[in-house]
Amino acid sequence: MNSEPEARFLRACRRLPVDATPVWFMRQAGRYMPEYRQLREKYSLLEMVHQPEIAAQVTMQPVCALGVDAAILFADILLPVIPLGLSLEFAKGEGPVIGNPIRSGQDIDRLRPIQAESDLGFVMDTIRILRKELPSGVPLIGFAGAPFTLASYMIEGGSSRDYRLTKELMLSEPDTWGRLMDRLAAALEDYLLAQVRAGAQAVQLFDSWVGALSPGDYATHVLPYSARILKAVEATDVPVIHFGTGNATLLPLMRQAGGTVIGLDWRIPLDQGWKLVGEDVAVQGNLDPTDLFAAPTVLRTRVEDVLRRAAGRPGHIFNLGHGILQGTPVDHVRHVVEMVHAYKSESEAA
Ligand code: CP3
Repeated sequence: MNSEPEARFLRACRRLPVDATPVWFMRQAGRYMPEYRQLREKYSLLEMVHQPEIAAQVTMQPVCALGVDAAILFADILLPVIPLGLSLEFAKGEGPVIGNPIRSGQDIDRLRPIQAESDLGFVMDTIRILRKELPSGVPLIGFAGAPFTLASYMIEGGSSRDYRLTKELMLSEPDTWGRLMDRLAAALEDYLLAQVRAGAQAVQLFDSWVGALSPGDYATHVLPYSARILKAVEATDVPVIHFGTGNATLLPLMRQAGGTVIGLDWRIPLDQGWKLVGEDVAVQGNLDPTDLFAAPTVLRTRVEDVLRRAAGRPGHIFNLGHGILQGTPVDHVRHVVEMVHAYKSESEAA
């Protein structure tokens, strides 16, 4: 066991007392920031993530501009599909596009075996640069997509509204589905463990679209694969955040699958979500990303509502319920960081 961490974010992951609630934002680097847009004029997203010096620079942008308590590696959950043998493009206005999606058992057989350390070595190089550049109070979070969310992109060929093809494979060819999920679980476990070896001080498993599933389908067709990855990371002593959206009915099962910290989205009040996952685990969340567009007085009541529901209990990491949206006013984001850091719970203020 490591000695007690110093950084607020890592302390909260372990449910240790903190001097102020730690705060960071999913998608804290991106197009809402002028310094990001400036770099994006020169490079595509894929060019940026493949150049460790540039990816490290983008990771640092929100750390410098916002004063957040953690940095998140600049990469994308879809990167592992490239060495697996799929073509990935980020088309303007369309989001990710995979030109040769997986539709059958034969497609799965064609997937290439991957080794994160070499096939995604540029990500580990970015992590090593960042560990030298980041201040010690600002830990680095690595991440990967969870098997379900990644499989949905690989099968649908891009974003989806109803996940029809994904669910069709899951339900009508459960063995084929299981083979794909096994392959992904092995690859993603290897990828996250490589990130930890390179220096990631926490990791987040993004199961962004898992809320499309019923609890029964989640338990049968997804939970065992996510659990494998989560358990492997937990064994390293590095905290792992298990995140989904639209998943209020899945929260007890996601807790069962694993995670040092469970992500909550805004569709469930933070205190209710915390009760569902169990008060003996840390939680992250859960401001609605659209609240960041609201007038400062409205935004303040929303931020305070989240903090009041956390009630100063150890193990709360302030974040949004999902990523920052394009067009979000940067000064509102900075203001939220200040509010969270200045907030005193009613018990402390008394
Ligand atoms: O600051 C950070 O959070 C770190 C970087 C990061 C990106 N993607 C960069 C990115 C992270 C953690 C992700 C995760 C990711 N990527 C998820 C899970 C989180 C979530 O939001 O649910 C998902 C589903 C993806 C897939 C993805 N990547 C989509 C759907 C899109 C297009 C939508 C969009 O916002 O344009 C991307 C592109 C992407 N990934 C951008 C960024 C900064 C925008 C790209 C650009 O600059 O053109």
